[in-house]
Amino acid sequence: MKIDGKPHRTIWPAPDGNAVEIIDQTKLPHRFEITRLETLKDAAHAIKAMLVRGAPLIGATAAYGMWLAMREDASDAGLSNAYDRLYETRPTAVNLRWALDAARTKLSPLAPTARADAAFALAGEICDEDVEINRSIGEAGLAVIKDIQSRKKPGETINILTHCNAGWLATVDWGTATAPIYLAHDGGIPVHVWVDETRPRNQGASLTAWELGNHGVPHTVIVDNAGGHHMQHGQVDLVITGTDRTTRAGDVCNKIGTYLKALAAHDNGVPFYVGLPSPTIDWTIADGVRDIPIEERDHREVTEITGRLPDGAVATVTITPEKSNAANPAFDVTPARLVTGLLTERGLAEASEEGLLRLFPEMRQANKD
Ligand code: MRU
Repeated sequence: MKIDGKPHRTIWPAPDGNAVEIIDQTKLPHRFEITRLETLKDAAHAIKAMLVRGAPLIGATAAYGMWLAMREDASDAGLSNAYDRLYETRPTAVNLRWALDAARTKLSPLAPTARADAAFALAGEICDEDVEINRSIGEAGLAVIKDIQSRKKPGETINILTHCNAGWLATVDWGTATAPIYLAHDGGIPVHVWVDETRPRNQGASLTAWELGNHGVPHTVIVDNAGGHHMQHGQVDLVITGTDRTTRAGDVCNKIGTYLKALAAHDNGVPFYVGLPSPTIDWTIADGVRDIPIEERDHREVTEITGRLPDGAVATVTITPEKSNAANPAFDVTPARLVTGLLTERGLAEASEEGLLRLFPEMRQANKD
């Protein structure tokens, strides 16, 4: 997408060929900074400290991390060490495992001397594929938006609520939840987005609002607790979120708070859609609440908040009593029964095992194994 009129992806090989460059998302929306990743350690740090985040971008960064690692040590031991170092960075987004497995499968049979080049090529393929997938998710979501518009609000603005950042910053480009929004906006359909702030890290307020604003999409930031109110008052036509891992039965794991939005949507008859790239499907599990590992993050994300002071300096302040405990589960699971539909690169799927298998029939056999 464009920043100040210039097209950008979220990750790309450095022009000098010696590193990968990323947008440091911990600095947004106050500063736009590009950071170089030169080593396996840099890539692992970027994922763990959330300089990059969002399930597809975590996968893409891990793929480039394997390239950086292979330049340092392309032996079998080096390959296995790189896999483990990157795998342990964040537990919930399954795209990480998907990308690392793809790299290991491709690199293991090769001679060590061939591994770095192959890893670099694979990372580029994963990035290009992600862009295509998200564009296709956008087409599937655009059809849903057009349908709602023609049935319920011809010529009127369609109000879409989203949670966290499942925008282009969370992917290589386009975003999953935002791709339908960008396509609708660019195609002349009037859209307005309710942006959940998404405490504790405020990915909505900091990142989604920033990218929608850069693209000129009308939006309003709301506190996480306001969504139900807006739904009750008929001010939300549909919800679109992303996902970090969706089980083969259609249970959707996403940023903490997504489940409450799905409950409120269900209670108010508001359709609840999820942008789901196929690398985010975990075909190995069915029950999301039981089987998806939920990342517990640093409690200071809850007890502190960061923002810009009037003089432009960025500061972090404490907002809780010094002795209060805090808990910080980073994701929750929305059961399939609350999901109206899954927007995939192959079209709209019902949130069920049969619904997903209808679009991905090649997984029928794998599922039986
Ligand atoms: O902790 P984060 O910022 O990595 O969480 C991101 C999300 O929950 C996104 O909604 C999800 O990864 C989908 S991204 C297209």
